[in-house]
Amino acid sequence: MEKALNEQIAMEGNASNKYLAMSCWCDGMGLEGSATFFAQHAEEERMHMLKLVNYIQDVDGKAIIPAFVAPQSDYTDINEVVQTAYESEQKVTKSIYKLVDLALKENDHQTHNFLQWYVSEQLEEEVLMRKIIDKIKLIGEGARSLYYIDQELSNQAATEETGEEA
Ligand code: FEO
Repeated sequence: MEKALNEQIAMEGNASNKYLAMSCWCDGMGLEGSATFFAQHAEEERMHMLKLVNYIQDVDGKAIIPAFVAPQSDYTDINEVVQTAYESEQKVTKSIYKLVDLALKENDHQTHNFLQWYVSEQLEEEVLMRKIIDKIKLIGEGARSLYYIDQELSNQAATEETGEEA
């Protein structure tokens, strides 16, 4: 179980870096709202990573802090960024489910309980990314669409800042 949890530390840390790289790409494109949104998510993923580190240490295990894996730094457009984020969240969800399965198999009730927070969090994150993809489809393509998409992500970032429901 400890080895699997350590692998999850790497996954959350890499997700954090991936979002940070997305934030930088958005910033470079003048998409300030989107840059803020992804920077916030980079912080969230770091928090997910730290939560795992602390848990492993709390149960007298040894948390392993992994090396960075270079994230993708260039994208074709904002659609690709959001789609990549969504697919990344789906992968994380699968990984969390595998951890839950393992905890059940090993009768590790403590870890099973700990992981429930991640199960709920993953649902929220997948719903959020899907909503953004749907909004982008609604906004459509065209000269002004980028402005509105960026506005949408900016609103989303502000909502998360205040902790309100999206
Ligand atoms: Fe921590 Fe979004 O996975």
